[in-house]
Amino acid sequence: MSTRIGDEAPDFTAETTEGTISFHQWLGDSWGVLFSHPRDFTPVCTTELGAVARLKPEFDKRNTKVLALSVDPVDAHGKWASDIAETQGTAPNFPLIGDEDKKVADLYDMIHPNASDTATVRSVFVIGPDKKIKLNLTYPASTGRSFSEILRVIDSLQLTAKHKVATPADWKQGEDVIITKAVSDEEAEERFPGFTTVKPYLRYTKQPTG
Ligand code: BEZ
Repeated sequence: MSTRIGDEAPDFTAETTEGTISFHQWLGDSWGVLFSHPRDFTPVCTTELGAVARLKPEFDKRNTKVLALSVDPVDAHGKWASDIAETQGTAPNFPLIGDEDKKVADLYDMIHPNASDTATVRSVFVIGPDKKIKLNLTYPASTGRSFSEILRVIDSLQLTAKHKVATPADWKQGEDVIITKAVSDEEAEERFPGFTTVKPYLRYTKQPTG
């Protein structure tokens, strides 16, 4: 089944390295990142899981839970964790789903048969506290992901969920943002005093706080 932005994230119950997880219940009021990696004991995946483990405090700051998946069993994930600790400096400090029957992979369309009919591609889903899909990214197995980019998107999603703004190309926390077109100039004067107009459809303001 393919899932699109705005769809409800399919719920599931799965075995993980931290016990059985019922996805929606486990998310609670948090944001979530669900990401797949093709196989255990593979080099790119080893670096990715280490990278996410090192960034865990950044996900925590953003009230975001991370959950990884591969179609290998939970006990293989457990054995691999010590290699990840040894080579990356940190073992996974978040749960990994053992999706041997590919139940979750199928729900989230993580197997692309023309790439591989046995392993998942590198999918990333960001899920909001309303359990809706906010971001859906797909990378090939040969390309490790940029998890700082995922954090950057979460910053944008959380900001734009609160304020009537959008974020420009390559925006980072603290940089100016764009006032959405739903906001009239009159309303913009009230909400974003001192905003600048480059074109009637391109208005910038300081990043709102709060
Ligand atoms: C890797 O993680 O290194 C990898 C996994 C599957 C295919 C290619 C690379």
